[in-house]
Amino acid sequence: MHRQDFVLPQATYLLNHSVGRPLVQAQQAFEQQFLSPWQDSGREPWQAWLAIIEQFCSNLAKLLNSDASQFCPQVNLSSALTKLVMAQPRLQRPGCKVLMSEADFPSMGFVLQKALPDAEIVFIPKPLDVTDVNVWQQYVNASVDLVFISHAYSNTGQQAPIEEIVALAKQQEVLSVVDIAQSVGVIPLDLTRLNADFVIGSSVKWLCGGPGAGYLWVSKAQLQACQPKDVGWFSHDNPFEFDIHQFRYHSSALKFWGGTPSVAPYAFAAHSIGYFADLGAHVVREHNQALISLAMQQLDGLCVSPIKESQRSGTLIVDLKHQNQQVLAALTAADISVDCREAGLRISPHIYNTADDMAHLVDVITSVR
Ligand SMILES: Cc1ncc(COP(=O)(O)O)c(C=O)c1O
Repeated sequence: MHRQDFVLPQATYLLNHSVGRPLVQAQQAFEQQFLSPWQDSGREPWQAWLAIIEQFCSNLAKLLNSDASQFCPQVNLSSALTKLVMAQPRLQRPGCKVLMSEADFPSMGFVLQKALPDAEIVFIPKPLDVTDVNVWQQYVNASVDLVFISHAYSNTGQQAPIEEIVALAKQQEVLSVVDIAQSVGVIPLDLTRLNADFVIGSSVKWLCGGPGAGYLWVSKAQLQACQPKDVGWFSHDNPFEFDIHQFRYHSSALKFWGGTPSVAPYAFAAHSIGYFADLGAHVVREHNQALISLAMQQLDGLCVSPIKESQRSGTLIVDLKHQNQQVLAALTAADISVDCREAGLRISPHIYNTADDMAHLVDVITSVR
């Protein structure tokens, strides 16, 4: 039903954990909102361009049930995380303790080690099950200052119980930051209900909005507490005041913004996030899980991602051990786009994939075995 809304290749495209497909209307929206005010008018395009950013933040707010003023555009998650941790006063204390998992996206670990050089980083070891709240319970205690939680893990197809972990952190007065890069758009999320301190995300994967349109979200309490160091005139309460001796933080999350912002990526992303906010992440989730379940029934014994739906991300992992590369080559030859990481083949069906796509995939995998 939604298939015709997307630009789809000939190939069966199942790489949505990496890059989601563009909407058919994306080019037109970009031309109207970004290019036209620049090309077709003799006036400053900034007013129209800043309206794109407002739209981006309000569409995110609608999708994730929060207030637009709590979102700030960021180039990517790494940059967002750097700005956040360098701005939080408690994290500047030498010896502060940060908890994360070895299964997190490596870039997040690089950031925490470099942006907080005096912090002790404690890793939950990879073999431990990050879908199990009891594992988190062993590590989240009052000696920890910040817990970093990935909502979804694309290499293992797991989903962390973020509500329970954030609640655990709150009880122990531990700050929490949630990475939604792999979940936003495919796993429903209510930020008001979650009540984390910080959230970081992008638009490039399940939101089909292209790269360069990342963002951070800050709780109202942290908005007061944080003092960003990486600032610019767009972080100012009144960017047009132009008094070099007077810097005042913007009252919203835009205090994290910086200098002259990038706009073009947000024209694509605002448009596609609007599409998914109207559609509802639960619709994508239901479809995605139904297709994953279909493949799991046929590929019994080969699936290494969680069986329980509450523990699954949007990605199915199939492990054929020493045959993985051979199967990947056969899938590529059959024009089926998936990829392979340490745990196995990553298969991520979106709203535009069909039961036929999964049947085709299963046929090729079983023919090689
Ligand atoms: C869980 C997770 N976090 C973060 C990222 C990307 O971070 P960045 O936007 O800094 O490149 C990815 C990319 O694949 C990811 O899967």
